[in-house]
Amino acid sequence: MRIHLFKILVICLVLTNISCENDSESDLVDVTIVPLVTYENSVKTIIDDNCTTCHNDPLVNFAPMPLLTFDQVKEAVDNRGLINRVSSEDISFLMPFGGPRLPQSTIDVIIQWNTDGLLEQ
Ligand code: HEC
Repeated sequence: MRIHLFKILVICLVLTNISCENDSESDLVDVTIVPLVTYENSVKTIIDDNCTTCHNDPLVNFAPMPLLTFDQVKEAVDNRGLINRVSSEDISFLMPFGGPRLPQSTIDVIIQWNTDGLLEQ
């Protein structure tokens, strides 16, 4: 009986050792954590810098809605085609109204915000 237990112990030790063995670093995965885009960490600043000259409260230059809060900006993505408007190549449709078009990297942040689930923070 004692020999039997001893065998089991040895087998366990061998298995544990094999499963944890790692002689090379080349197969270690380099994990880069990309934080999610949120309204608070990225989008608010973009909208404040480029849109609220018109989309304010009170409204300026005949803009149809304010873009001052998370709810308002999220609603504009969901129901007012905000992403199509900032992505457009058509100057008569593009936002900011009258252009110039935002840098693609900035547009991509808004698109990524949508992909990440339109989080507030
Ligand atoms: C110079 C003023 C001005 C600026 C700056 C501006 N807008 Fe506008 N926006 C308007 C006007 C006026 C309209 C209504 C006419 C139209 O739809 O083209 C409008 C319409 C929109 C609409 C469509 C609303 C609807 O219900 O159809 C969206 C979405 C929008 N803007 C988003 C933005 C975003 C996002 C920015 C910043 C990147 C921005 N706008 C910057 C004036 C502006």
